[in-house]
Amino acid sequence: LQVEALQKVDDASDAKELQDVRVAYLGKKGPITEVLRGMGKLSKEERPVIGELANKVREKIAQAIEQKKTVFEAQEIEKKLAEETIDVTLPGRPAPSGGPHLLTSIVEEIEDIFIGMGFEVREGPEVETDYYNFEALNLPKGHPARDMQDSFYITEELLLRTHTSPVQARTMNAIGGNKPVKMICPGKVYRRDTDDATHSHQFTQIEGLYVDKNVRMSDLKGVLDRFAKKVFGEDREIRLRPSYFPFTEPSVEMDISCKVCHGEGCNVCKQTGWIEILGGGMVHPRVLEMAGYDPKVYSGFAFGMGPERIAMLKYGVNDIRHFYTNDVRFLNQYHKA
Ligand code: PHE
Repeated sequence: LQVEALQKVDDASDAKELQDVRVAYLGKKGPITEVLRGMGKLSKEERPVIGELANKVREKIAQAIEQKKTVFEAQEIEKKLAEETIDVTLPGRPAPSGGPHLLTSIVEEIEDIFIGMGFEVREGPEVETDYYNFEALNLPKGHPARDMQDSFYITEELLLRTHTSPVQARTMNAIGGNKPVKMICPGKVYRRDTDDATHSHQFTQIEGLYVDKNVRMSDLKGVLDRFAKKVFGEDREIRLRPSYFPFTEPSVEMDISCKVCHGEGCNVCKQTGWIEILGGGMVHPRVLEMAGYDPKVYSGFAFGMGPERIAMLKYGVNDIRHFYTNDVRFLNQYHKA
C-alpha cells in the first residue's frame, strides 16, 4: 500500500491530482482509516503492531504529499514570475512630444540677435495708461494720429496697449535721464481690427530703443541691417523709406529685399522686390524730454516690428490666424529636431 501510494504521489502532475491522492489514501474512506477503524477486531497482541505500522505508513504518505506540495508551490511562483517579467529589450511606445510655438521661436530668435548686439530684454504692462500709450509718445488727446491705432478702451484713462512703444517711455523713466538705454521689449498688443489673413485684434510686437550720447540714424540702419541679415540671410539688403510716427523724427519704414515670384506661397514679395517689415526712427526730442532725458545731450533711435509678420515672410505663412488657432498640423511643421 505504501509503495503504491508513494508512486501515486510521485505521478501527480499538479496540485489537484495531489489532493485526489490525499483523499484516496488518507481520507475518511481511505484504506488507512479503514485499518485503524478495524483495530477493535484485532487481538491484544496485534493491536500495537498494526497500529504502529498504520501510523507509520500514514506519516510516510503525508510527508511525501507535503513535500510534493512545496514543489508545486515553488513551481507556481516560478510561473507567475516568468509571466510578469518585463522585456526591457522591447522598443518603447513613443509618447507624443510638443515643442515651442512658432511665435515663441521667432521671438526668441529675434531676442537672441539683439542680445548679441548689447540690448537687454524688458517688459511692460498690457493694460496701459492713456499717458504712456499716447501722451508720453507725443500723441496728446485729440491728436489725429491716435486714429492710426484704433484702441480698446477700458476706462477713459486705461486701455489695452496698441503698441509696445509705451515701454520706451517707461524704461527711460525707470532709468532716470542720465544713463544710456539699450533695450528691446516683446509683448502682446491690441487693436480694434477685424480679423482676417493679415489683421488680428491681438498680435505681437517687438520694440527696440537705444538712447545714448551721439546715437545717429546710421546706428539705426546698421543695427537693422544686421538684424535683417541674421533673420533672413546674408544676401538680403535693407532700405529705409521716409514715414511718419508722432514719436520719432525723422521716421522711417524699413523694407527688405526679396525675390519676386509667382504662385503658391509666393505672394509675400511685392513686384518691386522689396517688402516692408518694420517702422522706426530717431526718438522725438519731446519724447526724450518727457521721459527725463535732455535732448541736447542725448539722442536715440527706436523701432517696432511684428514678429508674426517676420515669421510669415521667413516661412511663407499666408494667414496670421495660424498663429492663434493652434492647429498642431500647422505648428508641428516648425518644430526643430
Ligand atoms: N509703434 C509703432 C507701431 O505700432 C512702431 C514704431 C515703433 C515706430 C518705434 C517708430 C518707433 O506701428
